[in-house]
Amino acid sequence: MKRILVTGAGGYIGTRLVPALLDRGWAVRAVDRFFFGEEFLADHEHLEKIREDTRRLGARHFEGVDAVIDLVAISNEACGQLFKDATWQINCESRVRTAGLAKQAGVGMYLLPSSCSVYGEQDRATICDEATPPRPLTAYGQANLQAEHRALALADEGFTAVVLRQATIFGYSPRIRLDLAINYMVHRAWRDGQVPVVRDGTQWRPFLHIDDAVAAQMFMLEHPDRRAISGQVYNVGANELNYTSEALGKLVAESVPRDVELEWVGDSDQRSYHVECGKIESLGWRAGRRIPEAVRQLWDMLEDGRIQGTPQTHTLQWYRDLAHWHKIIRKVEMYGGILDIDAGDGE
Ligand SMILES: NC(=O)c1ccc[n+]([C@@H]2O[C@H](COP(=O)([O-])OP(=O)(O)OC[C@H]3O[C@@H](n4cnc5c(N)ncnc54)[C@H](O)[C@@H]3O)[C@@H](O)[C@H]2O)c1
Repeated sequence: MKRILVTGAGGYIGTRLVPALLDRGWAVRAVDRFFFGEEFLADHEHLEKIREDTRRLGARHFEGVDAVIDLVAISNEACGQLFKDATWQINCESRVRTAGLAKQAGVGMYLLPSSCSVYGEQDRATICDEATPPRPLTAYGQANLQAEHRALALADEGFTAVVLRQATIFGYSPRIRLDLAINYMVHRAWRDGQVPVVRDGTQWRPFLHIDDAVAAQMFMLEHPDRRAISGQVYNVGANELNYTSEALGKLVAESVPRDVELEWVGDSDQRSYHVECGKIESLGWRAGRRIPEAVRQLWDMLEDGRIQGTPQTHTLQWYRDLAHWHKIIRKVEMYGGILDIDAGDGE
């Protein structure tokens, strides 16, 4: 049985990817700090859960591993700006280190699920393919880009390294993220009757359903000709799933089963990237899921309570809350507790 090490396995993508890998017959070593909880990954006879920080991985974590999918990250631009040092350490340094450790351990394949945010600020008329010079504006985009370059530089005969620049993902996952554009719009439409649209509305973004994100990772993992894909970068999305933020807001508004208004929010967003996905399609892979169906599924799940807008569903807010409470708890904790403390003899 082949074993795969997945970092960031407890996250939005990981909690959909890991069960899919197990279904395909892979054994999975799932590494995560589990900042959002461990309960979203159900136990399975071929699943090993390891609570560890990826900055502290060692050779033993790669023993018996055939491939790595390195999902770990501080996973959006806003978090990257607030936690810049950690973003560089986790999204860049730890991934390059993980790729290096994997290579040293004789692991055959390393997949880096990066982000189309590396394209950053592009002219509205530009359509970005993999040869378009990236212009990342934030620590998140810059750290991803540097991780891509340094991980791909490790590719050789025996070590396949592939970068997947994913579009912004939408759809359900057990570790649901309601901070992602489409998921956020649906949640706000359901809760407030408003669909938030970031000013000025003309900025482009590409989108990708979570099932397609998982399918693209599996496709690369199982690709029969590793030499052909090694050292390569692929945009992962669908050409017809590029929208300006205003067009996206209107599409979501039309797709939900109640009357809603567009609500203009934020300062004008400089980041704009319209992405072309012909390179991955030329390998025979295509994203199939569309936005309206996913919007209705999210809506139904909000209606019946399977999705709830808890603090954990907003990544930035949750990391902020954890950092805030960590400071307070460190000051007041004694003897391993707050009101309940570890048993001891008192002297
Ligand atoms: N979700 C998207 O729309 C999207 C789009 C493009 C790219 N990506 C990339 O895909 C990857 C996964 O994204 P996601 O949406 O699942 O994010 P997520 O925040 O849900 O998951 C990241 C996981 O990493 C874990 N983690 C963070 N720091 C850690 C550390 N130092 N050690 C161990 N675990 C740690 C967290 O606990 C979390 O479970 C990220 O690299 C992200 O940048 C995501």
